[in-house]
Parts: sequence; structure tokens; C-alpha cells
Amino acid sequence: MSKVAILTGGGDCPGLNAVIRASTRTALNNNWQVIGIQNGWRGLLEKSFKPLTLDSISGILPKGGTILGTSRTNIYKQENGPETAIKNFKEMGLDALIAIGGEDTLGVANKLYQQGLNIVGVPKTIDNDLNATDFTFGFDTAVNIVTECIDRLHTTAESHHRIIVVEVMGRHAGWIALYSGIAGGADVILIPEIPIDIDEVCSILKKRHSRGKTFSIVVVAEGAKIKEKEITQNQQVDDFGHIKLGGIGHILGDLIEKNTGFETRVTVLGHIQRGGSPTSFDRILATRYGIKAMQLVLEGKFGRMASLKGNEIIDVPLQDAVAELKTVNQNFYEIAKIFFG
Ligand code: F6P
Repeated sequence: MSKVAILTGGGDCPGLNAVIRASTRTALNNNWQVIGIQNGWRGLLEKSFKPLTLDSISGILPKGGTILGTSRTNIYKQENGPETAIKNFKEMGLDALIAIGGEDTLGVANKLYQQGLNIVGVPKTIDNDLNATDFTFGFDTAVNIVTECIDRLHTTAESHHRIIVVEVMGRHAGWIALYSGIAGGADVILIPEIPIDIDEVCSILKKRHSRGKTFSIVVVAEGAKIKEKEITQNQQVDDFGHIKLGGIGHILGDLIEKNTGFETRVTVLGHIQRGGSPTSFDRILATRYGIKAMQLVLEGKFGRMASLKGNEIIDVPLQDAVAELKTVNQNFYEIAKIFFG
């Protein structure tokens, strides 16, 4: 009997379980054996896995997080990592592996594929910054959560005549800030792609208040920069070289209050954006990705990633997905700017 493994890597994301369920069901329908590797690439190095059966995947579709656990382990940063991974892949009797992840997890998947392993990828991240696909699953859920939070912050900002700065996730790309900011009617949206001009932000807010408005909502992505500098919590980096971001919301809030004289509060949404149940859009997208990934395995098409193009699920080279990040383009930002102030 042929055997396929599934793993989830990087930050968790609503919809991971929907992919696991769809890939497993497709594999079982085709008489393949399925195992789930635990805690991302770390599980492959430690040979830590569990069987995935009809019973074990039952009821997981609406659940957030991942039943397999996750980690940010980078095989290529561990001593003898690649050799151990290749050896374990063989010893575990695997014919193929489906890696569900963002640019880091899929970057490792692509390298292992180039070293001869049969690997297929599924694009995951709430940040939506992965190339070669129109949308990653998880993004829609994050945008819905943030939009609801902005709606809630609107009513309290209005009652107290305050400015509220909302800090959202988005390390290199401002997709969450942009989409939720437009959907939530934010008065200013700040993203990593465009350095913050604090004088401009304050003059937009002053102009808005001079026409009688007594409150404003400012959405800022955690990776937005003041004078080209990222704001970090400390200097620690993870296995993929990422520094811990955070703090831009408070710095911005202080500057706004000082420069405008308007009372300002700051809300950092953090991991709330990644938790809980996926939206139906993400459940369906994740399900389609999961089926496609397993079909690629059945067809022996490795080094590929399931991808959304328009409304079609297609497959693209893993290499294309990890070559560079998909950031917000200026045209899209111009739509948001129409509503500034
Ligand atoms: O990778 C997605 C992401 O949500 C980023 O926007 C954010 O910087 C990061 O995860 C934070 O994740 P963690 O706290 O798990 O390291």
C-alpha cells in the first residue's frame, strides 16, 4: 500500500484542519495509507507521527489550529538536518509528503524536493503574502476577525471622541491591514510597503476633525516602518531569521496624541487574528487545496503547489511560490486612500 505524510509548518492558521481532512479523505478513497507528521519539519527530524484515519479526522473541519501541531523548525538550520530528513523519509516508508505552509515551510519543501523527495505544497498564511496564488487560506478568516474588531472599536472611539490605533499582523505585506481597513472604514491605513510619514498622518487626522468628526480609526500593520525602521519587541530571531515584531501601534499612538492633541488609545489584536474557526470561504478554499494536493501526489506531480487562479484550483511550481513575496501594490492602496480623512 502506498503511503503519504501530511505536515503543517509555521504559524498556525484557520483552515489547516480542513486541508488535512480533504487530503486524507482523497488519499483513503484511493487506498493510500496516511500519516500526520507532528509539529512541522521538527516531526520529520524526530520521526514523530500519528496515523490519519477516517476516525481521527472526523469533526475537524470547523476547528481552528492544527491537529498535527506546528513549529518554525528549519531543517536547513539543524545539524545534519537535510540528511536526517531524507533518511527518515525513507525509513518511514513514505512515497510522498504534503507540506502545508507559508514561504518558510514551502522553502524547505522546495529544497527537499530538489534533493529528491516527493513533495507537494499547499499555500497557507493569514498574511496572504505568498506568491503564485491569488489567495492563501486563512486570510479571509483573519480579515473577518479584524473587520469585526474595527467595527467594535468604532463605537467606543465615537462615544469617547478618541483616536484608536489598531495594530494588526502583517510582517512584510499589508494585506490584512488593507482589506480589513477598507472593509471596516478606517480613516488611515499604514502598511509595511510604504514608510509612515507621521506629519502626513497627523494632517489627515486634523483635517478630518476640522470637518466636525470627533473620532478616527487608524489601522497599522505590525511591519510598518517609521523612517525605514521596523519596530521590534527584542532582537531574538527564529530559525528562519525573523525578528519578533510588535510595538508600532504604541509608538504611533504616542506620536499622534503628541502632534494632534487628540486623545488616543491603542489596541494590538495579536494572535486573536489567527485563532478560532475558519470562515466558510476558507473552509472551501482549504478543502479544494487539500484535494488538489493529494491529486498531485496520485499523479506523481511533485515539486508543485496547489494554487488559486481566479476561481480555478491549478498547480504551479513550488519554486514560483517561494521566489519572492506578494506585497500590496500601489493601485490597491490608492482605493483605500480615497477614504482617508
Ligand atoms: O506568519 C504569520 C504571522 O501571522 C505574521 O504576520 C506574524 O509576524 C507572525 O505570524 C507572528 O507569529 P508568532 O508569534 O507565532 O511567531
